[in-house]
Amino acid sequence: MPENERAAKEHAGRVREMFALIAKRYDLLNHLLSGNVDKRWRRIVAIRVREKLSSSSSRVLDVACGTGDLSLTLFEITAAGVVGTDFCRPMLDIAAGKTSGRVRLIEGDALDLPFRDGTFDVATIAFGLRNLSSVQSGLAELSRVLKPGGWVAVLEFSRPANAILRPLFNLYFRKLLPWMGGLISGSRSAYTYLPASVQKFPDQSQLSLLMEQAGFDQVGYENLTGGIAALHMGRRPE
Ligand SMILES: C[S@@+](CC[C@H](N)C(=O)[O-])C[C@H]1O[C@@H](n2cnc3c(N)ncnc32)[C@H](O)[C@@H]1O
Repeated sequence: MPENERAAKEHAGRVREMFALIAKRYDLLNHLLSGNVDKRWRRIVAIRVREKLSSSSSRVLDVACGTGDLSLTLFEITAAGVVGTDFCRPMLDIAAGKTSGRVRLIEGDALDLPFRDGTFDVATIAFGLRNLSSVQSGLAELSRVLKPGGWVAVLEFSRPANAILRPLFNLYFRKLLPWMGGLISGSRSAYTYLPASVQKFPDQSQLSLLMEQAGFDQVGYENLTGGIAALHMGRRPE
């Protein structure tokens, strides 16, 4: 097996194990560490997705859906048929308990999605792209499963634009969060991985560029909570 393929496989294995380990505490920690702001961010994603859908028979795919919070919000706000997919079974098990049949859940790898080309009207990925071994391959795969004219929505941590907010956020994210996350989840490494992966992830303009390079047009983003997170959207050309 070529070296880069082996490295990608190892990366995926580590990520899957990490989420399996923290799955039971994931929701609690998300809401606690973000002061529930994460719920508002997911609602904004769902509202923007609704604006792109033309009929109630539309199909939306939520990639790296984890415990299903965005999938469920998408279902509630858009009334579309929502499919959630993730490669970590313990995260999906929690999603199944919460969504109780309202969202179809399918185990699958974001880099090799188990769907035919051109299946969905919208594809979302929230706090998932950063975890993939290749952002470019993840974007290409999202584009593949979209219908021509379909939209992708990427919610990720990003770079706060404000010069006062930035150092405060960095202090919280790099020092306090790993400590609190470690204490509650029992896995300090998962919560040191979080700020490290965010630091490595492209900022707002770089991600826009990567999306354009992946073939999306009408790419744009909106900063959420001063750029702590950002929602990027782009369209697969007709
Ligand atoms: C930070 S969680 C985000 C979960 C959810 N989208 C949310 O908003 O809370 C990241 C999720 O990405 C999943 N993930 C990471 N790499 C993946 C891959 N290659 N294929 C599918 N899922 C992946 C993990 O299993 C985990 O559930």
